Amino acid sequence: MHCKQKLSLPTMGCGTWAWGNRLLWGYRETMDRQLQAVFNLCVNNGVTLFDTGDSYGTGKLNGRSELLLGQFTREYQGPNQENICIATKLAAYPWRLTRQSMVNACKSSAKRLGRNVDLVQMHWSTANYAPWQEEILLNGIADLYEQGLVKGVGLSNYGPKRLLWAHKKLAQRGVAIATLQVQYSLLSTYPVTKLGIKDICDELGIKLIAYSPLALGLLTGKYSEEGPFPKGIRGPLFRYLLPEIKPLLTCLQQVAQARNKTMSQVAINWCICKGFIPIPGAKNVEQARENIGALGWKLDPAEIAQLDDSAATIKRVMVQNIFQTK
Ligand SMILES: NC(=O)c1ccc[n+]([C@@H]2O[C@H](COP(=O)([O-])OP(=O)(O)OC[C@H]3O[C@@H](n4cnc5c(N)ncnc54)[C@H](OP(=O)(O)O)[C@@H]3O)[C@@H](O)[C@H]2O)c1
Repeated sequence: MHCKQKLSLPTMGCGTWAWGNRLLWGYRETMDRQLQAVFNLCVNNGVTLFDTGDSYGTGKLNGRSELLLGQFTREYQGPNQENICIATKLAAYPWRLTRQSMVNACKSSAKRLGRNVDLVQMHWSTANYAPWQEEILLNGIADLYEQGLVKGVGLSNYGPKRLLWAHKKLAQRGVAIATLQVQYSLLSTYPVTKLGIKDICDELGIKLIAYSPLALGLLTGKYSEEGPFPKGIRGPLFRYLLPEIKPLLTCLQQVAQARNKTMSQVAINWCICKGFIPIPGAKNVEQARENIGALGWKLDPAEIAQLDDSAATIKRVMVQNIFQTK
């Protein structure tokens, strides 16, 4: 018996990685209210795809991102309510060794969300370190689809070779891959320019999702090499990259000014023009509002070429996810 429900994907989504980690920074109640306002604004404006993961908010945070998303979904009343699509990523933890462990993981996510997951995604491939584990986990994902517990199946951090392998395995179970999520932005063109993932996905009818489309905030233009730099792992990364990416930021700024848009809006719109569904993370309503302004218009081919040419000259770019496969 195969799942008959329809999975619908909008042009843009919203990432919620930071949501799961907010607690670390305190001010929980105020923050949660702010994130709920972000959620409401997004849905109201037709941004109805929310990406989360069962590893977002680990340890004491206890699946916080999924818990918040579930609460926000239940409490939202307004336009596009029926189009809300919750995409979660199940981690390929080393202790998940049976297909039932993936089914149980998704049921736990659904419990935190208080509703079924719409799109279940394999968070990463185990090809680089435990290739034997992966088929078992993919079978668990296929079981979820067969049992009607999810509307669609997606992958994350797969390169073309492993994608074709996974496609074959899932096809044997009669399950189509709806989406593939990779790190994609003007500072992370690798999946397309080096791996050629877009052509394969187009061939297989897989929709691409661009994660970190703002290069963790670098493409917003608000950080400069003089600092201040953000706290945490972004600090040293930004310190390392900012002096080298100036020409790209200047180009982005020029295109944005000529268009009467912001740099963030141009960076996100560029992803859309490349055929991706970007899922920028927004920490507050102002950021969400600005990012929503990336919708409803399109860069023209000359602007895209200008940005592509500039991006191609940058030698230091975003580091790829360690789980990204070939
Ligand atoms: N599949 C995977 O392995 C994977 C990996 C990473 C992420 N993801 C998904 O992708 C989503 C988005 O990626 P991301 O959060 O890593 O990176 P991102 O979307 O490139 O950057 C988000 C950060 O940029 C800043 N920002 C966003 N909009 C802004 C605006 N309009 N103006 C100024 N600053 C703005 C915020 O940080 P500050 O305000 O602190 O600068 C925000 O947290 C995540 O939430 C997650 O769902 C998936």
